[in-house]
Amino acid sequence: MPFNGRPKTLIAPSTGYPTTRLRRPRQADWSRRLVAENALSVNDLIWPVFVHAGDEPRIPVESMPGVMRYSVAELAEVAREAADLGIPVIGVFPYVEGELKDAQGSYAVADNNVVCQAVEAVKNAVPTLGVMCDAALDPFTSHGHDGLLEDGSILNDETVEILVRQSVLQASAGCDIISPSDMMDGRVGAIRKGLDEAGFQGVLIMSYAAKYASGFYAPFRAAVGSASTLGSASKSTYQMDPANSDEALREVALDIAEGADMVMVKPGMPYLDIVRRVKDTFGVPTYAYQVSGEYSMIMAAAERGWLDGERAMMESLLGFKRAGADGILTYFAVEVAKRLR
Ligand code: PBG
Repeated sequence: MPFNGRPKTLIAPSTGYPTTRLRRPRQADWSRRLVAENALSVNDLIWPVFVHAGDEPRIPVESMPGVMRYSVAELAEVAREAADLGIPVIGVFPYVEGELKDAQGSYAVADNNVVCQAVEAVKNAVPTLGVMCDAALDPFTSHGHDGLLEDGSILNDETVEILVRQSVLQASAGCDIISPSDMMDGRVGAIRKGLDEAGFQGVLIMSYAAKYASGFYAPFRAAVGSASTLGSASKSTYQMDPANSDEALREVALDIAEGADMVMVKPGMPYLDIVRRVKDTFGVPTYAYQVSGEYSMIMAAAERGWLDGERAMMESLLGFKRAGADGILTYFAVEVAKRLR
């Protein structure tokens, strides 16, 4: 009989019993725990939070059940709770009022904008909590794109110049990690140089290295107010084609060469193969973003009673660990941290 990939002696001829029974260690909780290969820890969590400039402490995000947009003061409070739960880092995402948006995204580089206020408030309240901010223009532009738009095209190098200013501004407010999420070419190197020249050699860069043009961002765009500005326009001239995998490795290689300390794959669940390839190829700190659409899918199904939301949440996050992620950006972070306690 030809060898078909299975051990030849599944049944030991001497005893008539299977030599190996993989069910044996699955019998008890203690032995399942003993043989578990991966585990999720609170140290793996990055919590993305939405902040707005108004006084209303909490405004529910309709497209993301259970997620709030916080005022700056309220954000400082919830950041303290997150830190008390052991969450290492929060990511601050601004909701920007329509009247502050323009074609250049000027508010992104305006002194003391809502991002700066939020970072300062959080760092004052909880100095030990890491704070991360996006470098991208989409919450600030009237057209909803991550970069400058001219005659229907996104201008790469001109956008990068603004991203450098945005990054330095956020670093001066106290931001610990700059996360370029714009997918312009060359932005990581330019931002690294800009930060270094401004005296922020200690500020880290986690690049959205392999960021795909994804349908799973829709609930986020509603939350930050870029859904209406972007409309049906596509980000496919700068975000990656979901068909590609080798290209993700090229993106990651460039970002590492340009000085990224950590790299991210986004979205998460449909791209676990990319997480695995990146981790195996480069061995650098690798993160995955379980994006808004992934969160809302689980929440919506749970609300209808179609699945056990808590179980699906934990299983989805363990999947990231199994794929090789060192950490996960997830809107479930606080819930998970409470469960892990
Ligand atoms: C902005 C940005 C987006 C997300 C994070 N930063 C949206 C986009 O690229 O359109 C999506 C996050 C999520 O869906 O949870 N560049």
